[in-house]
Amino acid sequence: MRKAVIAGNWKMHMTCAEAQAFADAFKPLVANLPAGRSVVLAPPFTAIATLSNALQGSGVQISAQNIHWQEKGAFTGMISAPMLLEHGVTHAIVGHSEPRKYYSETDEQINLRARSAQKHGIVPILCVGESDSQREAGEAERVIRRQVEQGVDGLDPARLIVAYEPIWAIGTGKTCEAAEANRICGLIRQWVGYPEVVIQYGGSVNPATIDQLMAQSDIDGVLVGGASLDPEGFARIANYQLPVAAV
Ligand code: PGA
Repeated sequence: MRKAVIAGNWKMHMTCAEAQAFADAFKPLVANLPAGRSVVLAPPFTAIATLSNALQGSGVQISAQNIHWQEKGAFTGMISAPMLLEHGVTHAIVGHSEPRKYYSETDEQINLRARSAQKHGIVPILCVGESDSQREAGEAERVIRRQVEQGVDGLDPARLIVAYEPIWAIGTGKTCEAAEANRICGLIRQWVGYPEVVIQYGGSVNPATIDQLMAQSDIDGVLVGGASLDPEGFARIANYQLPVAAV
Protein backbone atom coordinates (compact mmCIF):
# COMPACT_ATOMS: atom_id res chain seq x y z
CA MET A 1 0.00 0.00 0.00
CA ARG A 2 1.37 3.41 -0.97
CA LYS A 3 1.30 5.95 1.82
CA ALA A 4 -0.90 9.01 1.40
CA VAL A 5 1.14 12.19 1.74
CA ILE A 6 -0.70 15.48 2.25
CA ALA A 7 1.74 18.37 1.82
CA GLY A 8 1.29 22.11 2.23
CA ASN A 9 3.51 24.64 0.46
CA TRP A 10 3.34 28.01 2.18
CA LYS A 11 5.42 29.75 -0.53
CA MET A 12 6.46 33.26 0.63
CA HIS A 13 3.91 33.43 3.43
CA MET A 14 4.12 33.27 7.24
CA THR A 15 6.43 35.02 9.67
CA CYS A 16 7.69 33.00 12.64
CA ALA A 17 4.89 34.44 14.82
CA GLU A 18 2.29 33.46 12.23
CA ALA A 19 3.78 29.97 11.88
CA GLN A 20 3.59 29.51 15.66
CA ALA A 21 -0.07 30.58 15.71
CA PHE A 22 -0.83 28.23 12.80
CA ALA A 23 0.81 25.31 14.61
CA ASP A 24 -1.07 25.99 17.84
CA ALA A 25 -4.39 25.88 15.97
CA PHE A 26 -3.45 23.02 13.62
CA LYS A 27 -1.97 20.45 16.02
CA PRO A 28 -5.18 19.40 17.78
CA LEU A 29 -7.00 19.18 14.45
CA VAL A 30 -4.64 16.50 13.11
CA ALA A 31 -4.17 14.61 16.37
CA ASN A 32 -6.30 11.65 15.25
CA LEU A 33 -5.49 11.11 11.58
CA PRO A 34 -6.28 7.65 10.21
CA ALA A 35 -3.27 5.34 9.86
CA GLY A 36 -1.38 5.31 6.57
CA ARG A 37 -1.33 9.02 5.84
CA SER A 38 1.29 11.62 6.62
CA VAL A 39 1.22 15.40 6.68
CA VAL A 40 4.10 17.62 5.59
CA LEU A 41 4.36 21.42 5.74
CA ALA A 42 6.82 23.53 3.74
CA PRO A 43 7.27 26.93 5.40
CA PRO A 44 9.72 29.55 4.15
CA PHE A 45 13.29 28.87 5.33
CA THR A 46 13.07 31.53 8.05
CA ALA A 47 10.11 29.82 9.75
CA ILE A 48 11.45 26.24 9.58
CA ALA A 49 12.98 26.22 13.07
CA THR A 50 9.91 27.77 14.69
CA LEU A 51 7.48 25.44 12.93
CA SER A 52 9.61 22.39 13.51
CA ASN A 53 9.69 23.11 17.27
CA ALA A 54 6.02 24.04 17.42
CA LEU A 55 4.95 20.79 15.72
CA GLN A 56 7.13 18.48 17.82
CA GLY A 57 5.24 15.37 18.82
CA SER A 58 2.45 15.99 16.29
CA GLY A 59 3.82 13.67 13.61
CA VAL A 60 3.65 16.52 11.07
CA GLN A 61 6.85 16.59 9.03
CA ILE A 62 8.73 19.62 7.70
CA SER A 63 9.75 20.26 4.11
CA ALA A 64 11.99 22.89 2.57
CA GLN A 65 10.68 24.76 -0.48
CA ASN A 66 13.95 24.19 -2.31
CA ILE A 67 17.44 22.81 -1.65
CA HIS A 68 20.85 23.46 -3.17
CA TRP A 69 22.92 20.69 -4.73
CA GLN A 70 26.14 21.60 -2.94
CA GLU A 71 26.70 21.14 0.78
CA LYS A 72 28.42 24.51 1.17
CA GLY A 73 30.26 27.11 -0.84
CA ALA A 74 29.97 30.47 -2.55
CA PHE A 75 26.25 30.28 -3.41
CA THR A 76 24.74 33.47 -2.02
CA GLY A 77 21.14 33.08 -0.93
CA MET A 78 21.07 29.28 -1.10
CA ILE A 79 20.39 26.64 1.57
CA SER A 80 21.94 23.15 1.63
CA ALA A 81 20.86 19.73 2.87
CA PRO A 82 23.04 19.70 6.03
CA MET A 83 21.56 23.10 7.05
CA LEU A 84 18.06 21.69 6.66
CA LEU A 85 18.81 18.45 8.48
CA GLU A 86 19.85 20.45 11.55
CA HIS A 87 16.20 21.54 11.83
CA GLY A 88 14.66 18.12 11.34
CA VAL A 89 13.63 18.70 7.72
CA THR A 90 12.52 15.45 6.05
CA HIS A 91 11.34 16.62 2.59
CA ALA A 92 12.36 19.21 -0.01
CA ILE A 93 10.25 20.54 -2.89
CA VAL A 94 12.27 20.70 -6.12
CA GLY A 95 11.25 21.86 -9.57
CA HIS A 96 8.20 23.83 -8.49
CA SER A 97 6.85 25.82 -11.44
CA GLU A 98 7.52 29.15 -9.70
CA PRO A 99 11.33 28.75 -9.45
CA ARG A 100 11.25 27.10 -12.89
CA LYS A 101 9.62 30.25 -14.23
CA TYR A 102 11.04 33.11 -12.16
CA TYR A 103 14.61 31.81 -11.73
CA SER A 104 14.86 29.76 -14.92
CA GLU A 105 15.61 26.51 -13.14
CA THR A 106 16.49 23.73 -15.55
CA ASP A 107 15.63 20.02 -15.39
CA GLU A 108 19.33 19.33 -14.89
CA GLN A 109 19.59 21.63 -11.85
CA ILE A 110 16.35 20.22 -10.46
CA ASN A 111 17.74 16.71 -10.79
CA LEU A 112 20.93 17.76 -8.95
CA ARG A 113 18.83 19.23 -6.15
CA ALA A 114 16.81 16.01 -5.84
CA ARG A 115 19.99 13.91 -5.82
CA SER A 116 21.50 16.02 -3.05
CA ALA A 117 18.30 15.67 -1.02
CA GLN A 118 18.31 11.87 -1.33
CA LYS A 119 22.02 11.66 -0.57
CA HIS A 120 21.24 13.26 2.78
CA GLY A 121 18.14 11.21 3.51
CA ILE A 122 15.69 13.95 2.52
CA VAL A 123 12.72 12.97 0.33
CA PRO A 124 12.48 15.19 -2.76
CA ILE A 125 9.02 16.29 -3.88
CA LEU A 126 9.67 16.68 -7.60
CA CYS A 127 7.08 18.95 -9.25
CA VAL A 128 6.20 18.57 -12.91
CA GLY A 129 3.41 19.99 -15.04
CA GLU A 130 2.46 21.69 -18.25
CA SER A 131 1.37 25.27 -18.95
CA ASP A 132 -1.97 26.25 -20.41
CA SER A 133 -0.52 26.83 -23.87
CA GLN A 134 1.36 23.51 -23.81
CA ARG A 135 -1.88 21.71 -22.94
CA GLU A 136 -3.77 23.50 -25.69
CA ALA A 137 -1.08 22.62 -28.20
CA GLY A 138 -1.37 18.93 -27.28
CA GLU A 139 2.11 19.00 -25.75
CA ALA A 140 1.23 18.22 -22.14
CA GLU A 141 2.32 14.58 -22.08
CA ARG A 142 5.58 15.22 -23.92
CA VAL A 143 6.52 18.09 -21.57
CA ILE A 144 5.67 16.17 -18.42
CA ARG A 145 7.48 13.06 -19.63
CA ARG A 146 10.66 15.06 -20.25
CA GLN A 147 10.45 16.69 -16.81
CA VAL A 148 9.91 13.30 -15.17
CA GLU A 149 12.64 11.43 -17.02
CA GLN A 150 15.27 14.14 -16.54
CA GLY A 151 14.11 14.89 -13.00
CA VAL A 152 14.31 11.33 -11.66
CA ASP A 153 17.55 10.32 -13.39
CA GLY A 154 19.76 8.52 -10.86
CA LEU A 155 17.23 8.77 -8.03
CA ASP A 156 15.88 6.01 -5.81
CA PRO A 157 12.13 5.98 -6.64
CA ALA A 158 11.34 4.40 -3.28
CA ARG A 159 12.41 7.64 -1.54
CA LEU A 160 10.78 10.06 -3.93
CA ILE A 161 7.48 11.90 -4.34
CA VAL A 162 6.43 13.24 -7.73
CA ALA A 163 3.83 16.03 -7.71
CA TYR A 164 1.80 16.56 -10.88
CA GLU A 165 1.01 20.27 -10.86
CA PRO A 166 -0.51 21.62 -14.06
CA ILE A 167 0.62 25.25 -14.11
CA TRP A 168 -2.81 26.47 -15.26
CA ALA A 169 -4.34 25.02 -12.09
CA ILE A 170 -1.89 26.62 -9.63
CA GLY A 171 -3.39 29.51 -7.68
CA THR A 172 -6.18 29.93 -10.23
CA GLY A 173 -9.03 28.13 -8.49
CA LYS A 174 -9.23 25.84 -11.57
CA THR A 175 -8.61 22.34 -10.21
CA CYS A 176 -7.78 19.78 -12.89
CA GLU A 177 -10.67 17.32 -13.22
CA ALA A 178 -10.03 14.36 -10.94
CA ALA A 179 -10.21 11.81 -13.77
CA GLU A 180 -7.71 13.74 -15.92
CA ALA A 181 -5.35 14.31 -12.97
CA ASN A 182 -5.57 10.57 -12.28
CA ARG A 183 -4.78 9.72 -15.90
CA ILE A 184 -1.65 11.88 -15.92
CA CYS A 185 -0.55 10.54 -12.52
CA GLY A 186 -0.86 7.01 -13.95
CA LEU A 187 1.33 7.96 -16.89
CA ILE A 188 3.91 9.50 -14.54
CA ARG A 189 3.96 6.23 -12.60
CA GLN A 190 4.78 4.38 -15.84
CA TRP A 191 7.46 6.87 -16.82
CA VAL A 192 9.12 6.61 -13.40
CA GLY A 193 8.96 2.85 -13.88
CA TYR A 194 8.33 2.02 -10.23
CA PRO A 195 4.72 1.15 -9.35
CA GLU A 196 5.09 2.09 -5.69
CA VAL A 197 6.29 5.66 -6.29
CA VAL A 198 4.16 8.18 -4.38
CA ILE A 199 2.43 10.62 -6.73
CA GLN A 200 0.64 13.78 -5.65
CA TYR A 201 -1.69 16.10 -7.48
CA GLY A 202 -1.34 19.86 -6.90
CA GLY A 203 -3.18 22.92 -8.20
CA SER A 204 -6.04 24.69 -6.39
CA VAL A 205 -6.71 21.74 -4.08
CA ASN A 206 -9.18 22.79 -1.39
CA PRO A 207 -11.46 21.24 1.23
CA ALA A 208 -14.26 20.90 -1.38
CA THR A 209 -12.18 18.96 -3.92
CA ILE A 210 -9.94 16.82 -1.71
CA ASP A 211 -12.21 13.83 -1.18
CA GLN A 212 -12.78 13.25 -4.89
CA LEU A 213 -9.07 13.65 -5.69
CA MET A 214 -7.98 11.21 -2.99
CA ALA A 215 -10.51 8.63 -4.21
CA GLN A 216 -8.57 8.30 -7.50
CA SER A 217 -6.48 5.16 -8.00
CA ASP A 218 -3.22 6.87 -9.01
CA ILE A 219 -3.37 9.95 -6.75
CA ASP A 220 -1.56 9.14 -3.52
CA GLY A 221 -1.58 12.61 -2.03
CA VAL A 222 -1.75 16.33 -2.71
CA LEU A 223 0.50 19.37 -2.70
CA VAL A 224 -1.53 22.32 -1.48
CA GLY A 225 -0.61 25.99 -1.81
CA GLY A 226 -3.17 28.64 -0.84
CA ALA A 227 -5.46 26.31 1.10
CA SER A 228 -2.58 25.21 3.37
CA LEU A 229 -2.37 28.68 4.95
CA ASP A 230 -5.56 28.20 6.91
CA PRO A 231 -5.25 25.69 9.79
CA GLU A 232 -8.91 24.62 9.70
CA GLY A 233 -9.00 24.23 5.92
CA PHE A 234 -5.71 22.36 5.72
CA ALA A 235 -6.76 20.13 8.61
CA ARG A 236 -9.92 19.25 6.67
CA ILE A 237 -7.72 18.34 3.70
CA ALA A 238 -5.51 16.17 5.92
CA ASN A 239 -8.64 14.52 7.31
CA TYR A 240 -10.01 13.74 3.84
CA GLN A 241 -12.78 11.17 3.68
CA LEU A 242 -12.87 8.34 1.20
CA PRO A 243 -16.19 7.02 -0.07
CA VAL A 244 -16.98 3.74 1.65
CA ALA A 245 -16.32 1.68 -1.50
CA ALA A 246 -12.80 3.11 -1.88
CA VAL A 247 -11.68 2.50 1.73
P1 PGA B 1 -2.32 26.27 -5.07
O1 PGA B 1 -0.74 26.00 -5.23
O2 PGA B 1 -2.87 25.15 -4.22
O3 PGA B 1 -2.42 27.61 -4.40
O4 PGA B 1 -2.90 26.23 -6.43
C1 PGA B 1 -0.25 24.71 -5.42
C2 PGA B 1 1.25 24.73 -5.53
O5 PGA B 1 1.81 25.68 -6.12
O6 PGA B 1 1.92 23.80 -5.05
